[in-house]
Amino acid sequence: MRGHINSLDLFKRAQAVMPGGVNSPVRAFQAVGGNPVFVRRGYGSRILTVEDRELVDFCGSWGPLILGHARAEVVEAMTAAARDGTTFGINTAREIDFAELLCNSIPGLEQVRLVSSGTEAVMTGLRLARGFTGRRRIIKFEGAYHGHSDSLLAGAGSGLLTGGISSSAGVYIHEGDVFLPAYNDKAAVSEIIRRHGRDVAAIIVEPVAGNMGLVMPQAGFLEHLRREADRCGALLVFDEVITGFRFAPTTYGALAGVTPDLICLGKIIGGGLPLAALGGRRDVMQCLAPCGRVYQAGTLSGNPVAIAAGMKTIELLIKENPYPSLAALGSRLATEINRLAGDAQRPLHVAQQGGAFTIFFRRDPVQQLADAKACDTQSHAAFFNGMLESGYYLPPSQFETSFISSAHSRHEIEQFVAAVETWMRAIDT
Ligand SMILES: Cc1ncc(COP(=O)(O)O)c(C=O)c1O
Repeated sequence: MRGHINSLDLFKRAQAVMPGGVNSPVRAFQAVGGNPVFVRRGYGSRILTVEDRELVDFCGSWGPLILGHARAEVVEAMTAAARDGTTFGINTAREIDFAELLCNSIPGLEQVRLVSSGTEAVMTGLRLARGFTGRRRIIKFEGAYHGHSDSLLAGAGSGLLTGGISSSAGVYIHEGDVFLPAYNDKAAVSEIIRRHGRDVAAIIVEPVAGNMGLVMPQAGFLEHLRREADRCGALLVFDEVITGFRFAPTTYGALAGVTPDLICLGKIIGGGLPLAALGGRRDVMQCLAPCGRVYQAGTLSGNPVAIAAGMKTIELLIKENPYPSLAALGSRLATEINRLAGDAQRPLHVAQQGGAFTIFFRRDPVQQLADAKACDTQSHAAFFNGMLESGYYLPPSQFETSFISSAHSRHEIEQFVAAVETWMRAIDT
């Protein structure tokens, strides 16, 4: 029976009952062409498609799987939790253990509220910033993606960029409510604050941008945002949904020495299950119901099975400290591909930080959305399909970040580099 299943047939069936055949737009492969992959199972660094093709996975479910697929201890922890009941909607001691672990790991995280998705965390963060300051306007950066709540879809990255949609239909944002400076543009932020600072509730930023491809903050950028937020009384919100526990067992803000007022977490902290968090200054968090008047709630918030997976994941990250080796693998991948591109005079380069990377089809560095948009997305699509053919699953869009997990080996990275070299040679001939 198994051998008869294939991704194309499944995609056709899926399209009949699900819009675009998917539950999240980028999975439809519209940016890269071809038919989307359907997965049978995942283990370590690899996934097995329904056709029984084994692929080395650099998507990692878009970030959560820093320990790879189905890590035994994580599966055991969540299975044990599930045996005791999957949800109560009543308090458990587990929630406190997890909140304490997060607060002890992250400077500035005095209190935390657990939610079920990154979207929910940032949406609540924004509402809280507005409720706390009594102001409506926000600054978010062009090409940043903070989930799909209404205000944050203005000028969003990730799937909206991939689909060529600058903003979603059905979203009504008050004119002037969302300022959209370019990422890394300190002067633009200062100018907005100078003119409108007293109306700005929050500056929301991915401290390392991951949704127009991987874009690092320039030296002094995050510090500048901290100063500007202080100058006008706005809250600084770091969206660390991708970056939390990505480069160290803490946030990127902590590594950079910049403490925001609010921090949004997701992906890795859920260990592969739907779990995210919003936290920060106690006086701000105290504005959340039931203490304060900013409302937020969730049937599955603080879900015991998700917490078990997240807790075990963070414990393993602290115990095993895979970060130096992830950084070494990432650096090797980037250095080698950049060298190959230089030798072959190919207009592409790798941006990399720790175990995160993007292969940009453009020679010049990418520092903001305009640079990312100048990439050759057709070449990226050809590359994506070439790599898929060679046994590597990358995120199916130029405007996304790839992830190396602790389950990836040096050999796999070297094989990947060799596959990239072969691809480059093939398109030259
Ligand atoms: C930086 C950032 N914030 C928020 C989100 C939304 O998280 P979720 O998809 O869990 O709703 C994402 C998702 O990719 C993200 O990358």
